[in-house]
Amino acid sequence: MGLVRRGWRPRTTGYHADMNWTDEHRDTFETNRQSWDERVDAHWQSAMYQQHVTDLRNGTPCLREYILQDVGPVDGKSLVHLQCHMGMETLSWSMLGATSVGLDFSQPAIDKANQLRDELKLDTRFVCANVYDAPNAIGAANGGAFDIAFVSVGALCWLPDVPRWADVVRQLLKPAGRLYVNEVHPFLDVFDDADNGQQIEVKYAYLDAQPIVFENDGTYASPDAVFEHNQHVYYIHSIGTVINALIDAGFVIDRFTESSECGWPRFKMMEQVGPDDWAFEDKAMCSLPHKYTLMAHVG
Ligand SMILES: C[S@@+](CC[C@H](N)C(=O)[O-])C[C@H]1O[C@@H](n2cnc3c(N)ncnc32)[C@H](O)[C@@H]1O
Repeated sequence: MGLVRRGWRPRTTGYHADMNWTDEHRDTFETNRQSWDERVDAHWQSAMYQQHVTDLRNGTPCLREYILQDVGPVDGKSLVHLQCHMGMETLSWSMLGATSVGLDFSQPAIDKANQLRDELKLDTRFVCANVYDAPNAIGAANGGAFDIAFVSVGALCWLPDVPRWADVVRQLLKPAGRLYVNEVHPFLDVFDDADNGQQIEVKYAYLDAQPIVFENDGTYASPDAVFEHNQHVYYIHSIGTVINALIDAGFVIDRFTESSECGWPRFKMMEQVGPDDWAFEDKAMCSLPHKYTLMAHVG
């Protein structure tokens, strides 16, 4: 991904989440939604997601082992998956016995999720809405409805306001409800490929980062795909921002883990080391954190 310009100023559009957002925020949502909408077909057809579809058709949840270990048994639990994309992880939780709801603001993604849900004959519910509108959209505005909230890989980076997000998650959860976040590590987001493709270099700010507007064709699951909507607004939210937002929203942090696990060729220098794993060859670089997991509960 490459930075095209900073100091971005928004176009105004009609789309808005049901909260007090600035025009700039509304435009961010619209820009990102258009690019996500357009990527759904390519994602559905990609090897990465078709493998998940095959696994699900064979009755195998597409959740990594460490996630299953961390979250533990979900049989009989209610679970909300925020920014669920085409719902494959949400369907996996249903397969494992949870009563699951997946939410995403991309209607094409939700359509695919519903299609797969019907084929698999699961009772997962999918809702198309902005994550900030989740309590109303899901019908959980009058009190927490869920035992578990699940957020996974590439979610927070599209959100302009982490404290508001943390508050939304808390509203969705029952007393003592649990949050599990499996996310891209924001520290790695400060790096980008150098022009020669042989190195990575620091290109973006970590602390006090401004929204980054970048243009890129392709996607992580289908790098060669060509699209019309290629602009994205991306946020690097530091770990401190996320943790403090959760604490301020009333969460108790139970565990925070960093790992070098990377599920796609994030940088040109990376090599594929397993069916779903990419890594740097250099040992020290291998120790850079690509992912983090965070477990918290409503205090
Ligand atoms: C990287 S994808 C998540 C991928 C998912 N973890 C998976 O493995 O399939 C990010 C998702 O966030 C959704 N999204 C981005 N901003 C959103 C918002 N404000 N409200 C709801 N969904 C949003 C996008 O539509 C997209 O489906």
